[in-house]
Amino acid sequence: MTIREIIFQATAQLEGAGIPSARLDAEVLLAFCLNSDRLELMKNPEKLLDNAEQTSFCAFIARRLRHEPVAYITGRKAFWSFTLEVNNDVLIPRPDTEVIVEEALAVLNAHPVDQPRILDIGTGSGAIALALASEVPGAQITATDISDMALAVAKKNALALGRDQQVTFLQGNLFTPAHGTFDLIVSNPPYISAGEYETLPAGVKDFEPRVALFAGKSGLEFYENLVYQAKDYLKEKGWLLLEIGGKQSREVRNLLEMTEFYDSIDVRADYAGLSRVIKGRRK
Ligand SMILES: C[S@@+](CC[C@H](N)C(=O)[O-])C[C@H]1O[C@@H](n2cnc3c(N)ncnc32)[C@H](O)[C@@H]1O
Repeated sequence: MTIREIIFQATAQLEGAGIPSARLDAEVLLAFCLNSDRLELMKNPEKLLDNAEQTSFCAFIARRLRHEPVAYITGRKAFWSFTLEVNNDVLIPRPDTEVIVEEALAVLNAHPVDQPRILDIGTGSGAIALALASEVPGAQITATDISDMALAVAKKNALALGRDQQVTFLQGNLFTPAHGTFDLIVSNPPYISAGEYETLPAGVKDFEPRVALFAGKSGLEFYENLVYQAKDYLKEKGWLLLEIGGKQSREVRNLLEMTEFYDSIDVRADYAGLSRVIKGRRK
C-alpha cells in the first residue's frame, strides 16, 4: 500500500472506533513507524510501504483502536520546548500544564531570587520541573513523587535533557521527602473526584495511572493537604502555585483564604478560558 492509501484506511478504522483525532493519529503513528515526520509523509503520498512497515503500522493502529493514547504507543510526548519519554507509569503531560510553567516563570521574573529553590510535588514524567530547570538554569529544583516507577521515568528524562545535576528526585508522600524551605512550590496534583473518575474517557481511565488522577470523593483531597502543609516549606514571601481542574477555582481559593497563610491569591485561566492555576504568596 502507499502512504496515502494506508493513512486513508487507518483513519476510517479509527473514526469507526469513535476516535476524534483519527487522521492526525494515523499520520503521527505512521511517521513514528517510518522514523520520519508528518511533513515527509505529505510530500511522498505515493511512496510504497514494505511488508515490515505495514505490519508494524497495523500493530500500532490495533493498539490505538483499543484507545491506548498515541503518546504511550510512541513512548514520547512534546512538552514545553522538548520531548519527554513517557510510559504508562506516568501521566501524559498536557499542554494545559504549560500554564503553570508560564505562571511560575512570571512570578520569578516579577520577584527575582538568586538561585531560587523550587519544589515540584508529584512530578510524574518530570514535565514541570524540567521545564523550569531549562528556563531558570540557576534554580535548584527538588521534584518528588509517591511513585518510584514515575520517578524512574523522570530521572531518565532529566538525564536525556542534561538536567540531572540540577533536579533532585525524591520518592515519598507529598512534602515528606523535602528538606528546608523553598522560594516556589509548584504542583499539578491528582484532582479527579470519584464521580468524575468513572466518566473519564477510556484512553485516560484504562491507560493512565490512577494514582496520578484520583483525588478522593471531592477531588480536593490533595489541595487541602498541599495548602496547609506548604506553609512549613515556603520561605517568607515564597509562592505556592497549583494546577486546578476547570471547576475547582472557587473551592481551592477558599482553602487558600481560610488558612490565612497566604496573600496575593490569584487565579489564571488557560487559553480555553478555564481556570487552570491558582497562586498565593506566603505571608
Ligand atoms: C496529575 S499527575 C502530574 C504529573 C506531572 N507533574 C505533570 O504535570 O504532567 C500527579 C502526580 O502526583 C503523583 N502523586 C500522587 N499521589 C501523591 C502523593 N501522595 N505524594 C506525591 N506524589 C503523588 C502521581 O504519581 C503523579 O505523578
